[in-house]
Amino acid sequence: MFLTSLTLTNYRNYEHETLHFDEGVNVILGENAQGKTNMMEAIYVLAMAKSHRTSNDKDLIRWNEEYAKIEGRAEKRSGSLALELLISKKGKKAKCNHIEQQRLSQYVGHLNVVMFAPEDLNLVKGSPQVRRRFVDMEIGQVSPVYIHDLSQYQKLLQQRNHYLKMMQARERSDEAVLDVLTEQLVLLAAKITLRRRQFLSLLEQWAAPIHYEISRGAEQLHIRYEPSVDVSERAELSRIVEAYNETFADMREREIQRGTTLIGPHRDDIAFFVNGKNVQTFGSQGQQRTTALAVKLAELELIFSELGDYPVLLLDDVLSELDDFRQTHLLDAIRKKVQTFVTTTSIDGIKHDIIQEAAIYRVRSGSVTAPS
Ligand SMILES: Nc1ncnc2c1ncn2[C@@H]1O[C@H](COP(=O)(O)OP(=O)(O)O)[C@@H](O)[C@H]1O
Ligand SMILES: [Mg+2]
Repeated sequence: MFLTSLTLTNYRNYEHETLHFDEGVNVILGENAQGKTNMMEAIYVLAMAKSHRTSNDKDLIRWNEEYAKIEGRAEKRSGSLALELLISKKGKKAKCNHIEQQRLSQYVGHLNVVMFAPEDLNLVKGSPQVRRRFVDMEIGQVSPVYIHDLSQYQKLLQQRNHYLKMMQARERSDEAVLDVLTEQLVLLAAKITLRRRQFLSLLEQWAAPIHYEISRGAEQLHIRYEPSVDVSERAELSRIVEAYNETFADMREREIQRGTTLIGPHRDDIAFFVNGKNVQTFGSQGQQRTTALAVKLAELELIFSELGDYPVLLLDDVLSELDDFRQTHLLDAIRKKVQTFVTTTSIDGIKHDIIQEAAIYRVRSGSVTAPS
């Protein structure tokens, strides 16, 4: 799929700007703090209805303004698509082909993007929360049901934690209430666990050969899902439900003592291994970089395999960070099939053949000069 145009109104440092894009590589060139990342973020938000760098939507509205609006047109295999996202202090409203969407979970997934930014190196090095967020965002793009289950899970988790706090403080002692909350939580937990396991197993199938190639045949990547209950590769939903039930029963006293839910998808983690060694603890910076790049390139293929359309690739400040060999690999992987946006402060760091084919946009304090 291709994003053919983008209109930003009161978005961060953009007052009003309309841009038309190329189906190949679009380079966004500009000094620091001019609005390059803001533009990448806007495309990401148009797709995901959420920013990759802030959870506070108000940050996206231009200072001293009431609302921000992002509009875009995309060409997909299934046809042309008009998207609109309005962000106000009261909340977000989304339209797809001019029809307002009742839920954001219905809106997300019409435009698909894969973002690769410097903070993605944190995927390997950072906290489990970073990895859970990555998994949730990626599954959410191909599964509205997953977004729905996840938000139900989070609501129930809060209720259950609240009840456990009251039990801890001996303000409540009705175990039947806790049983009901646990039962509802377990079903959602099991669905989320199953989906994450499927996703990570597919991700590994795509990422391992890519990693092997980028490392010139020296490294074998393995991705391991680490949920808080033991779920074997082939366990079905009913088996996962059972595993959660058993573990919750064992944990009951401890949970009341601690006043919080100690197991479940909110405690999951993912581990990356290269040649059997955990990349987080033993990997060199180069290996961590290769892992992150392989995972991002795998996402392109994964989304293509699920939807029959490649997502839009957003490379914010990372291309010039990659050496020639990794740049070449990236270029070969996307050539003629993935629309790509690349930000940079200087075209010197980017391989000549990429620049030659690219459309170059210059950004200066929220104003863009399009290629002539
Ligand atoms: N809500 C906002 N309203 C107006 N300007 C903003 C807002 N948020 C960020 N900015 C401005 O955007 C600029 C940063 O843009 P950014 O896209 O991150 O820069 P870069 O080109 O280095 O990627 C800064 O000058 C910042 O002050
Ligand atoms: Mg930036």
